[in-house]
Amino acid sequence: MSEVAVALPLESSAESRRKIAFVGSECYPFVKTGGLGDVMYALPRALLREGCEVRVILPLYQCIPQKFTKNLTWKGSFMMDLTLEGRTFFVGIMETEIDGVIYDLIDNKEFFDWGNPYTGLWEDIPKYCYFSKASLAALNYLEWTPDIIHCHDWQASLVPLYQKTRFWGTPVASAKTVLTIHNLRFQGICSIDHLKYWSGLPDYLFNYPELKINDQECNMFKGGLALTDWITTVSETYAEEIQTPAFGEGLDSHLRYHAPKLSGIVNGIDTEIWNPDTDQLLAAPYSAETFLERKILNKRALQESMKLEQNDGHMILGLVSRLTDQKGLDLIDAIFPSLMDGNTQVVVLGTGDPRYESAFQYYESKYPGFVSANITYNEGIAHRIYAGADAFLVPSLFEPCGLTQLIAMRYGTVPIVRETGGLKDTVAPWNAEANEGNGFTFTQYLPGRLLDAVNRAKTLFFTDRWHWDEMVRRTMLKDVSWVKSARQYLDLYDSLCEDEAES
Ligand code: ADP
Ligand code: GLC
Repeated sequence: MSEVAVALPLESSAESRRKIAFVGSECYPFVKTGGLGDVMYALPRALLREGCEVRVILPLYQCIPQKFTKNLTWKGSFMMDLTLEGRTFFVGIMETEIDGVIYDLIDNKEFFDWGNPYTGLWEDIPKYCYFSKASLAALNYLEWTPDIIHCHDWQASLVPLYQKTRFWGTPVASAKTVLTIHNLRFQGICSIDHLKYWSGLPDYLFNYPELKINDQECNMFKGGLALTDWITTVSETYAEEIQTPAFGEGLDSHLRYHAPKLSGIVNGIDTEIWNPDTDQLLAAPYSAETFLERKILNKRALQESMKLEQNDGHMILGLVSRLTDQKGLDLIDAIFPSLMDGNTQVVVLGTGDPRYESAFQYYESKYPGFVSANITYNEGIAHRIYAGADAFLVPSLFEPCGLTQLIAMRYGTVPIVRETGGLKDTVAPWNAEANEGNGFTFTQYLPGRLLDAVNRAKTLFFTDRWHWDEMVRRTMLKDVSWVKSARQYLDLYDSLCEDEAES
């Protein structure tokens, strides 16, 4: 792990430091399937630099590599009741510290010994009922009472419900809760009987519209959003979008109702992990000063390792993504033959929907030397694509924030994005007259619009390299760090705690 200078504000003392508990289902470097894992790693570190004390609570999944589990310290264990029948389950707390952030991993083999880390909703619902309740119980057990419990996505969304019912009167009940929506598409929907049984939450909660969808089904995320003290989502535009039927995933009216306690704070990236100047995974590290001579070395290395035709003049389009409908892959599929002009290469890294996996494999066989489809999850390849590609595709149908365009910009790889969610908030469109912008954008979700944006990028790349390089330099210098957003979170935490002090 890299060294972090923990510069505490002068007035910070152990007593005055805000205590924040993060609760979520994944966290880099232990376990990551997407951007949630990145945020659970990077935001606590940024808050630590702002003078907070931060603990991250996550499940001790079997799939966490041994190199991390072997360094955990046992902090204690206890039995906890769960389910309507009050069955008891083991809760172990295994702890480690990385650069000042404390990680408490909840140990229970019945729930966490299978899956990668998710399995299917039927099993995941009991798993995350257990996890949400165990997180609160662990905080009380550790006698560490946070000012704020910051919960993430549906998997941690029962925390505010447990906190305000089963944990009422215990130390942890004094905390304020924040629930962040990273992706509203996944909500933890199941039959009322299933959740009632596993959560063991009071019966009356199931009689109100907070949890219920209809007489048979309920929704964990909906319940958490209703009972949490504050809701954030990961960009300002997504905060607006989810209040409309097109993006609300059935919860738009619920979110409009709760809009007074909803705000958007855009994600950043960890600029130490994602630093092209120090990145050991690259063929040739480079900076905004050296990219002209050195980024090309990464392009050559990428072409070589991906068995692509070696040619500095070709334009490489990169894609690193979960292969799901969310990511606008049907648009890419629709225009693929039009991308292939003999001078353009495409490198894909991702896993997911078999439909997209086989489409990209098909294009690889159809266009040898011009397309490379890497159907796998691999951090090293991801770094090398961010560095070696010239432009980066993120044409998402919806995108709460999106981190890949931020990483691409940090690596001087020009993003081509659809103007939705965080993509709209983070990528300024190229403006030829003003020589401004750091990417190419389009709005309507249509293959032709994406093709038009790619063609605009190609025109600049192939015919006006001076302006292209200027844009590369601008994207590399753009602030994509967590600093500004971590301060916004801190202001939010402060205001929630001040409200408490005044009431
Ligand atoms: P989402 O969370 O919706 O998947 P984000 O853009 O927020 O999208 O974050 C995706 C993260 O996962 C980025 O760090 C990206 O580099 C990483 N990632 C996605 N797919 C892969 C893959 N196949 N191999 C390595 N990293 C990947
Ligand atoms: C989700 C979203 C993505 C966001 C990430 C981290 O997975 O799909 O847009 O960047 O969470 O907040």
